[in-house]
Formats: sequence, structure tokens, C-alpha cells
Amino acid sequence: MPTPPVLLRLVAVLLAAISLRSTATAARHENTTQLHFFLHDTLSGKDPSAVLVGRGAGREPRPDDPVPFSSLYATDDVLTEGPQRQSKVVGNAQGLYVSSGRGKLSLVLGMDFELTDGPFNGSAFVVYSRNTVTRPVGRELAVVGGRGAFRMARGYALLRTHFLDNGNGDAIIEYNVTLFHH
Ligand SMILES: *[C@@H]1O[C@H](CO)[C@@H](O)[C@H](O)[C@H]1NC(C)=O
Ligand SMILES: *[C@@H]1O[C@H](CO)[C@@H](O)[C@H](O)[C@H]1NC(C)=O
Ligand SMILES: *[C@@H]1O[C@H](CO)[C@@H](O)[C@H](O)[C@H]1NC(C)=O
Repeated sequence: MPTPPVLLRLVAVLLAAISLRSTATAARHENTTQLHFFLHDTLSGKDPSAVLVGRGAGREPRPDDPVPFSSLYATDDVLTEGPQRQSKVVGNAQGLYVSSGRGKLSLVLGMDFELTDGPFNGSAFVVYSRNTVTRPVGRELAVVGGRGAFRMARGYALLRTHFLDNGNGDAIIEYNVTLFHH
């Protein structure tokens, strides 16, 4: 038996009402959190925090192209409160980055930033985004999710290169993160 159109319209109106209500509820419970820290991406030394996993065939590094397209790194980078490595540790960023630009150096990051100190100890936000590393300031990464207090997080991170060793690639990056979460 075909459904009468009037019933369909009623169902549509009810569904719209339900979705409006859940939007309003979500907005009421949304919190905004600002985080500020420094990420230490250390490739040099005996215990590097970023390690080359591999790269595509025929993609060897050259002086003018030290991180050739397809180079994949695994990371367990330390996050500290201040720019110095001796500064208080507030978390770690575990994941991957891959050299994703064929012409110009650019990375795509997929990393889970877990906090190990402060009111959000044990919670994490997740970045999956392009990182135009050749721009020292004005870089923005997308926050696509989170865990714990940051469950369902959305947001963005603004980056600035605090320190870069062009010889070995060691870097200290300042992060300002804005999170919207429940
Ligand atoms: C963070 O949480 C872990 C696990 O619950 C705990 O062992 C640790 O002491 C906490 N750290 C701080 C600084 O509160
Ligand atoms: C969000 O804010 C509300 C009150 O404004 C608070 O009760 C709740 O714990 C906060 N949630 C998180 C994850 O901080
Ligand atoms: C982060 O925010 C602080 C305080 O507003 C500001 O001084 C700093 O320049 C910002 N850094 C970045 C990378 O946005």
C-alpha cells in the first residue's frame, strides 16, 4: 500500500523538529578550550622523537630536497609548557607525518596529542591536516576529533616555528590550539 503523502510530510516535520532540538542541546554544552605549548620534533641524537619509516623508490634526499616527497616519519614528540626542552612536560604527540608535496615541501600530519598534566590530563585531541612547513608563521592545522574531555572536539591549531636546525631538521614549534568540545 503506498504511504499517503500527508504522513510523509508529518514525518519530515517531526524529524526537522528533532534535529533542531539536538543542535540546541549541543550548543548549550559546548566548551571552548585554549591550549598553548611547544612541540619538540627531534630527528638527531641517540633517541630521536621522529624516525624515518621509509620513502618511495628513487626518492633519495638531496641537499636541496632533504625530505623528498613520500618520506614517512613516525613520531612521539614531547610537548612542553615553554620553548626549552627542560621546561615542564605537558604531553606528547604520537603519530605520523608524510612529505606530501611533489614540488614544494609540505607535510600531512596525522597525530594524537595527549595531555599528561593539568586539568585535561589523559585527554587528547587529534590533528589530521596539511602543514606548509616552509611558512614560519601563519600555519593552521585542522583538529578533527578528540578523546576524554575532548571527545567530539573540533578546532584548529596555529603554528609558529620557534627553532629549526636546517642541518638535522630538529624543530621546536609553538602551538596555539582552540578546541570546541563537550
Ligand atoms: C596524569 O594522569 C595519570 C594517569 O591517571 C597519573 O598517573 C599522573 O600522575 C597524572 N599526572 C598529573 C601531573 O596529574
Ligand atoms: C564544560 O562546561 C560545563 C559547564 O560550563 C562543565 O560542567 C563541564 O565539565 C565542561 N566539560 C569539560 C569537558 O570540561
Ligand atoms: C599564541 O598566543 C599567544 C598569546 O595570545 C601569542 O603571544 C602568540 O604569538 C601566539 N602564537 C601563535 C603561534 O599563534
